[in-house]
Parts: sequence; structure tokens; C-alpha cells
Amino acid sequence: MTEQALEAAAASATEFLRGLASRPVPATADAGELAARLGGPLPDGPSDPAEVVAQLAKLADDGLVASAGSRFFGFVVGGSLPAALAADWLTSAWDQNAGLFVLGPAAATVEDVAAGWLLELLGLPPTATTGFVTGGLGANFSGLAAARNAVLAGAGWDVERDGLIGAPPLQVVVGAERHVTIDIALRYLGLGSGRVRVVPADGQGRMDPAALPEVLAGCEGPTIVCAQAGNVNTGAFDPLAEIIPAAHDHGAWVHVDGAFGLWAAASPARRQLVAGVEQADSVATDAHKWLNVPYDSGLVFVTRPEAHRAAFAKSAAYFVPGREGERDPDAFTPEASRRARGFPVWAALRSLGRSGVAELVDRCCRHARRFAGQLGAAEGVEVLNEVVLNQVLVRFPDPGGDSDGRTREVIRRVQEDGTLWLGGTTWHDLAAMRISVSNWSTTDDDVDRSAAAILAAARAAG
Ligand SMILES: Cc1ncc(COP(=O)(O)O)c(C=O)c1O
Repeated sequence: MTEQALEAAAASATEFLRGLASRPVPATADAGELAARLGGPLPDGPSDPAEVVAQLAKLADDGLVASAGSRFFGFVVGGSLPAALAADWLTSAWDQNAGLFVLGPAAATVEDVAAGWLLELLGLPPTATTGFVTGGLGANFSGLAAARNAVLAGAGWDVERDGLIGAPPLQVVVGAERHVTIDIALRYLGLGSGRVRVVPADGQGRMDPAALPEVLAGCEGPTIVCAQAGNVNTGAFDPLAEIIPAAHDHGAWVHVDGAFGLWAAASPARRQLVAGVEQADSVATDAHKWLNVPYDSGLVFVTRPEAHRAAFAKSAAYFVPGREGERDPDAFTPEASRRARGFPVWAALRSLGRSGVAELVDRCCRHARRFAGQLGAAEGVEVLNEVVLNQVLVRFPDPGGDSDGRTREVIRRVQEDGTLWLGGTTWHDLAAMRISVSNWSTTDDDVDRSAAAILAAARAAG
């Protein structure tokens, strides 16, 4: 029975992937249609598993977004590398619990191996500990949990035992253009999103290092500084080589949010963008973005293992702790029971190798520049950012004066057309179109077709 269900899934998945390049990029069914089709009463009894899977594939089909495909440029969304996708299937078939070594020795070992490869590839200290978490938010949360532990321990406070009530006040310094998930992680950690001290950013969203010392001078006691590698709108990098030593001089912990930008470190041509990141105390990134591993897959690296472990290590009478040389993954993640996310990460790294990851990063950056070149050369189109990575911000000035309105109308038309998908944003009070090139399978032809579709939408918008 299981075999037939898997065969049905393989057949449907293969058909979906074969049609990925030719289907409209957005979903075409609306919420009502999907609810009517997939809903209805809970069945009274069992159905054949293979039939259920085939039915699901059919009923969900036009509610699927082709975000795994080569012309999805919204948010920051990677696709799935063939080896990573297939390894993810195996992960489900094996159904290992990657919480404790005893529950999944291969899962725990693969995480350990992949962690070593990642640290080397990204130029982080080999002694750093790694947590395989759900995504960028989970990674920011985990890095900041280790930070909270360490800076309060430095002030003589055990936050894991005593919580935050009565704790020495903790200061958090952030850049003005940090990602929203930093604020959310601070909220989850009881540090509050409204108590941060904000360092101004420049026109590209980079934290101004000249303004940092004054902000730090106002921080007494335990302090955490959150820096960023890769702004979600512009792709710009905080100058880490200046920020981190200044923060360390003040005794602060430095956390770097590198959800997608950290992958620049894997490219010899772009490594200088993250110069200094190896000095950070914790670093967050995503594998489901630029490494093109299926959702969900985030990574946190902590260079002070004792703080990482103190924040997350768990024990109970019925647990079976790993012996010497046996890594219990749950010591580095908020969860206990957990999907074995290391398998697809390992497969992605093994299939690409060092040169393949660098080529993936460089190719996406080249595509972003190609977009910027074609769009920026057209009349009535303005590229707002320095295209240093894979992000392009575009605005459509309106001779009539309503440039925000025209920009939003172009985005709406592009989304409706379906050749590609992208979204909008507001950058320094201006409406803008966001293009993020993060998919392994995007080609020059995809970029040319997409740029042509964007320019056609701009002409149609008047
Ligand atoms: C800089 C940055 N940090 C964090 C995140 C959040 O990542 P996730 O959606 O995987 O939680 C993003 C998402 O785009 C991001 O760009």
C-alpha cells in the first residue's frame, strides 16, 4: 500500500516538475474554489492511500504557486536542487527523529558533517556549533537566545533558570533597516521589540558604523548588537568588519542576520561583502533560500558553544543522552522532536560542491544585474539600489506625478500576467518593485522573458 502511494506521489511530482516552466507562475484558483474542492465533511471511513495522494495532487494543482520554478522572483525564495528534493523524500520515508543521537544516528551524523562543510564554505570558525532550525526567524531566535544567555551570564544572571523577571536590564542595538524577524525574535525572547536602540542606516540600508559608538555609549550592562548581511530590499551589507570589533570593545555579543546574504561568503568573488563575519558570536542563515533546499530549513551558527548549549540543551529521566562522540542535535535547537533537516542540506552540498555553491551564488547575482541592466536602460524605469547581490529594486516614475500609484499598477499587471511573479515594497517612503533572484534553475532566457513582461506591463500601465 505504501509503495503504491509513493508511486502516485512520484508520478504527480514528476508531472508537476515537468510542467513547472510552462505553467502560470501564480496560483490560478482562488480561496473559495480551493476550499470547495479540498473541503467537505470529514470522511466517515478510510480510502485507498494511492488514490488519496493522486486526488490531492489533482485538487491542489491550480492552487500551487510555481515558486520552485525559474521565474519566481518574489520575497527571497529558493527552489529545490534535484539532490536536495530527492533527499527530502528520503527524509520523510525514513521518518527519523533528529532530536537525539539514539533516535537517528545517521541523521545526527549527517548534521554534524554538513555543519562542518557549512562552516568551511562560509568562512566561519570550525569550532562553532550549528543548529538546523526551521528558517531565518528560527535562526535569529536561536542565535539571540544564545546571546541572551551569554550576556546575562556575564552579569551573573542565569536566565535559563531564573528567567527575565528581576534580571539586569539588557540592551539590544539594531540597525534601522534590520529584518522584521529580528524584532519578532526579540519579542519571543521576552526582550521586547519596542525597547531596541536603533543605529541609523544609509541610503542602501547599511548600518552607519560611525553612529554605532554613540549608541553603544548609551548602553550600560549586558548588550547585544544585531547586524545584517543582506538587506531584504536592496541586498546591502552592514560593514561587519567595523561593527563587530566596535561592539566587542563594548563587551557586546554580535548577532548577524545573514538569511540570504551570508551565502556571498561561498563565492570568492563576493566574499568581501561579508568580511568580518567570522568574528560574530552568532550568525543566522537559511538553506531554503539560496542553497535551494526544500522548505523548511534554517541554520544558526554560534561561536560560543557553551552559550548555545546552555540556551537549548534538554534532559529528562527517559532521554538517552549521546555518549562520547555522539552529537545530540536537540542541544542546539529550540525543538525536541524534529525533522531530520540535515539530509537535504547534506545532499545539496554534496551535489554542488564548493564550486557549485559559488557558481549558484554568482549566477543569481549575474541575473540580477541583467535585470537591472535591461530595466534600467528602458525609458520610464528607475533602478533604486546598487545591485551588489541578487536583489533589484525598481520604480516606475509617472510623468503625471503619481509614481507610487504607477509602480503599484505595474506590479499588479505583472502578477496578473503570470509570466513571472514578484512583489512590491516601500523603500524610503517610495513604492518599489522587488526582484530577488534566488533559484538555481533561472536562466538568461528567463530573465529576458521576465524583463520583457515587466516592460510590457509598464507600457500598459501608461
Ligand atoms: C534578512 C532576512 N532575515 C530573516 C528573514 C526571514 O527568513 P524566514 O522567512 O526563513 O524566516 C528574511 C526573509 O526574507 C530575510 O531576508
